[in-house]
Amino acid sequence: MSKPKPTDIEKRVSAAGSTVTQSSETLLEVSDLTTYFRSSRGLVRAVDGVSFKLDRGKTLGIVGESGSGKTVLARSIMELLPRSGLERNGSILFEGTELIDFGPKEMRPYWGAQMSMIFQDPMTSLNPVMKIGNQISESIREHLDVSKQYAKELSEQLLVSVRIPEAARRLDEYPHQLSGGMRQRVCIAVALACGPKLLFADEPTTALDVTVQAQVLDLMATAQNERFMAMILITHDLGVVAGRTDEIVVMYAGRIVERADTKTLFSNMKMPYTEALLKSIPRVDQPSHLRLSTIPGRPPDLVNPPEGCKFAPRCAYAQDRCTQEEPPLREITPGHEYRCWFPVGTPEGAGALANNRAQGTTATGLVFQEPEVATTTRGDG
Ligand SMILES: Nc1ncnc2c1ncn2[C@@H]1O[C@H](COP(=O)(O)OP(=O)(O)OP(=O)(O)O)[C@@H](O)[C@H]1O
Ligand code: SF4
Ligand SMILES: [Mg+2]
Repeated sequence: MSKPKPTDIEKRVSAAGSTVTQSSETLLEVSDLTTYFRSSRGLVRAVDGVSFKLDRGKTLGIVGESGSGKTVLARSIMELLPRSGLERNGSILFEGTELIDFGPKEMRPYWGAQMSMIFQDPMTSLNPVMKIGNQISESIREHLDVSKQYAKELSEQLLVSVRIPEAARRLDEYPHQLSGGMRQRVCIAVALACGPKLLFADEPTTALDVTVQAQVLDLMATAQNERFMAMILITHDLGVVAGRTDEIVVMYAGRIVERADTKTLFSNMKMPYTEALLKSIPRVDQPSHLRLSTIPGRPPDLVNPPEGCKFAPRCAYAQDRCTQEEPPLREITPGHEYRCWFPVGTPEGAGALANNRAQGTTATGLVFQEPEVATTTRGDG
């Protein structure tokens, strides 16, 4: 698909908001980030020691089931969490500046102009009683010193760039007058308005039907390439990140359990959890009537997680060691790290499966079910 050329105004927006450099230097470096919430039951360890790097212009996928900490991680980096009861520690370097001690006041110049977010729920992230044009212009004028008229022109161009038909007329409409797909495009326009260097897209297509999903993801990819913007694409669906990301981190119970470049993650995944997640997405070579498997059990309680490996109660490979010792996140080959004592596709993993198969249960008493062969080429892009 040929990319539409950016308009003059879009180029200026991009230039005004960011210094576009075609280098691969690190934009964001998160180290040992913890985000806990104090609750009556104890500390909710929503993000528990997460580290990763993201280079300019690159896309990182963050994947995990509901409650694994994806949204809290993104909001924690952007300092968009309620402060009461919050404990946030670690390091967040953005272009070399440490943000961990920044509050909303210090973060304000960063929001929109340096990093922005497409929120999980497009219905609630737009103001229902404010015209779409005003919502975009307001965001532009907060960061760019431009006239009202210029901000309006910019808003219209942004709506055109996210393929909203009759953009001029839409500026005077309210969110409820648009379809779900159109509303999500408006959210993208708002997020892009000041040319951020980093865009968080939190489940940007979950509320949309499948054909609109692909269009919205393509649109975001085009916008990203034109602006040389880095993106963090958050989803519970490995199918969404296949072919759309440079690297993927898989989260479970607030931790990274596997990280690899996209191709490696799909072709040579090592975590049984990643394998189980992959089984729960439709495959192009599978008849559509086949039931997708779901991962047995539930994610752990983040206040009182199990000893040892947090995935053990649900893992087909689990052995006694898994219930006693938590595996560390280890970089086994350059760029590929995971937390597992009995990894997929290794002699240790095969031995664990053979043991559980023979006994009919795992070390945590789960009825043994054969994992499917996980190898797929879906990540090739
Ligand atoms: N303000 C808060 N106070 C206490 N716990 C919270 C708060 N916000 C989030 N949590 C908890 O943190 C955990 C991680 O939540 P988060 O929203 O990041 O999950 P997620 O991976 O984005 O899930 P989903 O796919 O459903 O969006 C959940 O257990 C959630 O209940
Ligand atoms: S094999 Fe053990 S360590 Fe690996 S994911 Fe399963 S329970 Fe965790
Ligand atoms: Mg979420």
